[in-house]
Amino acid sequence: MTDNASLLELAREVAYPNYRPAPFVLTRGRGCRVEDVEGRSFLDLSGGIAVLSVGHCHPKLAAAIAEQAARLMHVSNLFYNDRAIELAAEITRRTPFDRVFFANSGSEANEAMLKLARHHHFGRGDKERVELVGTLQSFHGRTLGSLSLTGQTKYHEGMEPLLGGVKLVPYGDLDAMREVVGDKTAAVLVEPLQAEGGLVVPPKGYLEGLRELTRERGALLLFDEVQTGYGRTGTFLAQEQYGVVPDACSLAKGIGGGFPLGAMAVTEKLAGALPPGTHASTFGGNPLACAAGLAVLRIFDDEGLVEHAARAGEHLGASLRDLAERHESVIEARGRGLLRGLLLADDVDPMATLVALRERGLLITLAGGRVLRISPPLNVTREELDEGLALVDTVLADPPRKAAS
Ligand SMILES: Cc1ncc(COP(=O)(O)O)c(C=O)c1O
Repeated sequence: MTDNASLLELAREVAYPNYRPAPFVLTRGRGCRVEDVEGRSFLDLSGGIAVLSVGHCHPKLAAAIAEQAARLMHVSNLFYNDRAIELAAEITRRTPFDRVFFANSGSEANEAMLKLARHHHFGRGDKERVELVGTLQSFHGRTLGSLSLTGQTKYHEGMEPLLGGVKLVPYGDLDAMREVVGDKTAAVLVEPLQAEGGLVVPPKGYLEGLRELTRERGALLLFDEVQTGYGRTGTFLAQEQYGVVPDACSLAKGIGGGFPLGAMAVTEKLAGALPPGTHASTFGGNPLACAAGLAVLRIFDDEGLVEHAARAGEHLGASLRDLAERHESVIEARGRGLLRGLLLADDVDPMATLVALRERGLLITLAGGRVLRISPPLNVTREELDEGLALVDTVLADPPRKAAS
């Protein structure tokens, strides 16, 4: 069965219908290109939503996974494995953090941070410090804990009751934080740039202010770098651009280059916050995922990908600003590094715009409902970016409009 129509028909019968996928079936990829089962090629500047840090099927990543699969795929966490130790060491070497816990996804990495925050205070005898503060329009994942900190009510509907002791305040508003962070706050969790919320860059001084506030009031500061980390915004972690070191930070998406892997990285003062028995993951830190993680970092180094992402990101930013200036269908260009997009005018139909781009062979995604998001592999070339931007230019010149109500 190799045609789109029969596979789609089968999917309609057997796949759980919680997604609304495009009407074709992808089967292979290389770099920034993917192909469907009928051989139609697409330029993929979505990067699997910021996951494909080294592109589709990088030969060195594929080889590392194959080699590890033939050597050792899994051992329980009752044993050390060489790959997990090596990857933790590599992450601590590249970041201000000292300890790494491995999970399998961004939600799980965030879940670990939330538990770490509560247990840290519990362990110090401060049993009242259980509140968790997040921000509106944030996105931290779909498990009930990470969902509770996700400030988008559309994802909460029908899922309540959520985690207790959670407060959500507007992003970028330090005064609002000052009002809610107090002696019951275990931690404040924010993204250094709200990604799913619509590529919202925080106002100047916000992250620095949060660092000061949490320190002053005895709460932990947690950064969710699931989408912004791993070179995506032009530095290894986005926090480097602000000179702010949180107490802990979650990573996922780009860390495995497409292999499921997440991590929580913490400073030494939190090394004792989750003693043995308090948190665990069957698959977390398995040698196969960690071998993929090590290969991703080796490719970063060999190909200078963080520096490349910064340069390519500047080019993407300048091109998007130019599109925003030339098209009345765009309100503004947003984002950092290779996590950028265009906020569409109110009367433009975002989904129909994506479909129009797809029909021309370009895959990108939406963030925050009406931001066209471009989050390509970090090894994207300038030519590939220009090819995609030319298609965006064409579609935005006469974009699909929302039906008049
Ligand atoms: C900032 C952020 N945190 C957490 C998540 C959840 O990650 P996952 O889907 O791997 O659980 C996402 C996913 O988009 C994200 O963008």
